[in-house]
Amino acid sequence: MDDRAIGIFDSGLGGLTVVRELVKRLPNEDIVYFGDTGRIPYGTRSRETIIKYAEQDVKFLQQHNVKCVIAACGTVSTVLPTETYNKFGVLYTGVVEPAVQAALRITSGKIGIIATEAAVRSGTYEREIYKTNEKTKVFSKGCPLFVSLVENGFTARNNEIAVLTAREYLTPLKNQGIDTLIMGCTHFPILRDIIQDCIGDGVRLIDPGLETARHIEQILKKENLLKIAAEHETGGKHSFYVSDSAEQFLENARVFLGGDITGTYEQIVL
Ligand code: DGL
Repeated sequence: MDDRAIGIFDSGLGGLTVVRELVKRLPNEDIVYFGDTGRIPYGTRSRETIIKYAEQDVKFLQQHNVKCVIAACGTVSTVLPTETYNKFGVLYTGVVEPAVQAALRITSGKIGIIATEAAVRSGTYEREIYKTNEKTKVFSKGCPLFVSLVENGFTARNNEIAVLTAREYLTPLKNQGIDTLIMGCTHFPILRDIIQDCIGDGVRLIDPGLETARHIEQILKKENLLKIAAEHETGGKHSFYVSDSAEQFLENARVFLGGDITGTYEQIVL
């Protein structure tokens, strides 16, 4: 058993889709979240810059004495894959492996990947798929505008700008006849309905937040690192930190969490 908090970070709000799933699965766990809202997006930056930012994010979480760190950001997960965790001296996971394994369990052989430009450029999702099954056909598409749509609240199912953007991005993947689509950026599940409408009901969508929450639950169980709540406790403590306005964060967080944030929130300087 381990009472320390689970550390989670993202370039902004997308990682809250992992928080949402984690709270459902492990309600007693304490969570420390960092959203680098002052420097989002990461996905349009160079590999070196993304690594530099991610290392600062991990360091910040480690200062909070967390028992593990989740890179709840598709972009970071592709440039700092799970095998780099030794570098941080802390149990570390990204979203790539859990999402890929979930896709491979259900695909009939044609997987689509949508992610940020940097994530697609890295080729990490493809490599991870080919490691398990090199016969799978993989089609990737960078969808950077999805991040801005989500951060700016253009997420309603009938939002014309969002629908047009989705059509533009997803039509080539649809034409390839994919059967499974990995939403390889943690912002994208917020556009799930729009994405499903555009790609068609026959394509199964993989949510990296959901799969990563499942994955970390299994690891914590296996390593005997779950928190055992005291009898009077009604749920874990949640602390949210951001590098831009905390009030703005509070407003937008509701969409990602599917409800109000429970816990403290604060703007910090890294
Ligand atoms: N949540 C990040 C990701 O999964 C957002 C994208 C960005 O910072 O560009 O890639």
